[in-house]
Amino acid sequence: MVASRLPFPLTLTGDGLVLREWRSEDLDDLVRMLDEPEIARWRPMPSPFDVEAGIAYLKRCHQGRITGQRIQLAITTDGGRPLGEVLLFGVDLGLKEAELAYLVDVRERRRGLASGALSLLSAYARSSLHLGRLLLRIDSRNTASTAVARHCGYRLTGEPPILQETPYGPSRLDTWELVERQTGSRRDRQKNVAARRYGRRT
Ligand SMILES: CC(C)(COP(=O)(O)OP(=O)(O)OC[C@H]1O[C@@H](n2cnc3c(N)ncnc32)[C@H](O)[C@@H]1OP(=O)(O)O)[C@@H](O)C(=O)NCCC(=O)NCCS
Repeated sequence: MVASRLPFPLTLTGDGLVLREWRSEDLDDLVRMLDEPEIARWRPMPSPFDVEAGIAYLKRCHQGRITGQRIQLAITTDGGRPLGEVLLFGVDLGLKEAELAYLVDVRERRRGLASGALSLLSAYARSSLHLGRLLLRIDSRNTASTAVARHCGYRLTGEPPILQETPYGPSRLDTWELVERQTGSRRDRQKNVAARRYGRRT
């Protein structure tokens, strides 16, 4: 059964990450992180992103959290300084589906933070929220984000692209969906294939 309100407050830990609620003390770090062209390019964000935008962002985040409409967590390694953000929103209880999104501080990229955070939140959405269909909507030109999606087991659905007008011109968002991962290691899977092929368990 999918809950009608998303849990709040929430902390998710695993793989060297602590995903925690945003706090008002994060304002300076948030503004420094979100005032960046690559983030403004691919996420709906005011640019430049100043303190006023930061205050409004944290307020909207808190509102979405207390009403249980979305999960919006800071990515940290130890519960301290925020290094990025991961979100779950647009929950459809009938279809048991939701959308996820992520961003990482430009100074902290290419160290597995986005893929770690996306994997953690996707696993939680599946196992604890019982959401069967987890989606990402990504502009096909966003190579970093498509790499993260692929890395975490999301695949293109082939649904028609969502066309949007952005301050940077027209954008085409592809829909990606998390596909079931095979359990066990690659070696276990190879052993199981061998077992099926030769009619015995290895
Ligand atoms: C997309 C973004 C979140 C990636 O964050 P990250 O923490 O650097 O990503 P990871 O370190 O987890 O990378 C995961 C995989 O993607 C690959 N990758 C990351 N950035 C890449 C890039 N710029 N080009 C090519 N591959 C990239 C990594 O190599 C890794 O793959 P691998 O393990 O097979 O080598 C970050 O670039 C960002 O915040 N971009 C702006 C906001 C944005 O685009 N958000 C997504 C909107 S849909």
